[in-house]
Amino acid sequence: MGQALLSLEARELLDWNSYNTEDPIEAYTPTPEKLVEPVLPVLPVVPVLPEGDTSRISVDEKAMINCRADLNQLVPLKYDWAWGKYLDGCANHWMPQEVNMTADVALWRAKEGLSDDERRIIMRSLGYFSTADSLVANNLVLGIYRLITNPECRQYLLRQAFEEAIHTHAYQYCIESLGMDEGEVFNMYREVPSVADKAVWSLGHTKDLSDPTFTTGTVETDQTLLRNLIGFYAVTEGIFFYCGFTQILSMGRRNKMTGVAEQFQYILRDESMHLNFGIDVINQIKNENPHLWSADFQAEARQMIKEGTELEIAYAEDTMPRGVLGMNAAIMTE
Ligand SMILES: [Fe+2]
Ligand SMILES: [Fe+2]
Repeated sequence: MGQALLSLEARELLDWNSYNTEDPIEAYTPTPEKLVEPVLPVLPVVPVLPEGDTSRISVDEKAMINCRADLNQLVPLKYDWAWGKYLDGCANHWMPQEVNMTADVALWRAKEGLSDDERRIIMRSLGYFSTADSLVANNLVLGIYRLITNPECRQYLLRQAFEEAIHTHAYQYCIESLGMDEGEVFNMYREVPSVADKAVWSLGHTKDLSDPTFTTGTVETDQTLLRNLIGFYAVTEGIFFYCGFTQILSMGRRNKMTGVAEQFQYILRDESMHLNFGIDVINQIKNENPHLWSADFQAEARQMIKEGTELEIAYAEDTMPRGVLGMNAAIMTE
């Protein structure tokens, strides 16, 4: 699905088979011809230093978007909040294998261990999140990263991208430990309407940025980037993660599936930081470019939040057709 949205050029870039035709050792042996002819293609997204310019970069030259200053120099720092979040993210490092899943495996296998409603919640949560974090990671790496033009934020984006990989790993680790049908779980974002509707909504907001020729610099394209940031940080990582996290954490509090719940707790800690970082990024872009935050754009942003909330309510209704764990769709809607 995500692949289909990428242009042919992007798909070719991702196809490793088109490289590696040579023996790897031979390919890296520096011969005079290879030193003259660079093997790596020159990527347009790599900042180029102005010829003959040897001046040092100052804080005033730094900007969130459309910045022409050298992006290879982290200091002097301008956006301390981004650097601080990078340090906090690193301090919270964890890995899925550190969590003991033994009790969960026993409970999942026991016939009487869980009600059908509880099993439905676990399956749906892993179904949604196992692909949602990949959507977020792809949007970060293929879309947002090259368009956010300051090194402090990029440092955090790199950290976030790794955290998204850890989250996908955590869901895969749960699915594998519990012996679930992997094909069924990983295909829910195509096959189960309440899960698919959320994934399709997010994918719709990554489409423009995933085009490798997309670039910012006009009101229209800068607003497209802002729309993407709202769609991913506020709606996908904020609203769309709400119901599933609440359900699994509530299950853990009742001493059920404690390993899965512990994984979700660590993920929630990371996700809270992603959401806060995203809000800071959106506000900072807004402060530096107030003309982008027009009345029409604000109405559009409100509409996006409304759509996200409606999809999350539909997800709550589908995952909790009856009350379960002291919760129901009506409580979630409030
Ligand atoms: Fe994540
Ligand atoms: Fe995230």
